[in-house]
Amino acid sequence: MPTQTNAPRSVTTHDFLKWKAEGRKIVATTAYDALFGRLVDEAGVDCVLVGDSLNQVIAGQPTTLSATLDQMIYHTQMARRGVKHALLVIDMPFLSYQVSREDALRNCGRAMKESGAQAVKLEGGQVVAETVRALVDIGIPVMGHVGLTPQSVHALGGYRVQGRDDESAGRLMADVKALEEAGAFSIVLELMPAERARALSKALTVPTIGIGAGPHCDGQVLVLPDLIGLNDAFSPKFLKRYAQLADEVRKAVGAFAADARAGTYPGPEHSF
Ligand code: KIV
Repeated sequence: MPTQTNAPRSVTTHDFLKWKAEGRKIVATTAYDALFGRLVDEAGVDCVLVGDSLNQVIAGQPTTLSATLDQMIYHTQMARRGVKHALLVIDMPFLSYQVSREDALRNCGRAMKESGAQAVKLEGGQVVAETVRALVDIGIPVMGHVGLTPQSVHALGGYRVQGRDDESAGRLMADVKALEEAGAFSIVLELMPAERARALSKALTVPTIGIGAGPHCDGQVLVLPDLIGLNDAFSPKFLKRYAQLADEVRKAVGAFAADARAGTYPGPEHSF
């Protein structure tokens, strides 16, 4: 029997479905470690995604493609130590779920066992739907991800808005329907016209979580270093920066450097 405590229970995938039915918007951010995991959790987000965006934002790589499963598990273990309330989702990296069903089950199973995440996220629609079904069947909740899928950036010809024409819009609708039928509990919609995301969100009973997909999604997600202005090298149209932390970091470190060079730090109050 699980022990009863007075601690607030953590968010579950069932809450996501309930919140969609109630019209309550879902809020998610990324976090890649215990420090920021704790801060975003304390700020009250519903979901923390350990996104493979860490490969670009933290590791400085040009795309997400070279992220490894070991790297994703390591960062999710760190985030797990900070996140107490929000639903923690691990992003499955490129080639960890596309090669075969068996591979996907083994890698997603390992990710769940070792990282402490409560769900996995996979990119793709109809092509991964059977894999999603197989994962859900063995008890692994799956968040889908369609539209601009960064692991396919080279095939998509760059980081461009998806679903602009009728043909690709039809494909997007078939993709989200296939994911819902396969048992995905939510679907990220990335970089698409707001009206397209509205139509997809309306057609589904599972919630959509938008990034660059307009205001009609059932929730919103942003990459944390972008939203707090720590990664000021990235300024897409959809991004709103809620702080300018890169400026603060440069200012603080510059002031420390000036004090250290002038010999005014440490002062007597910092010395033993
Ligand atoms: O990797 C990531 O951070 C993501 C979000 C942008 C949804 O997939």
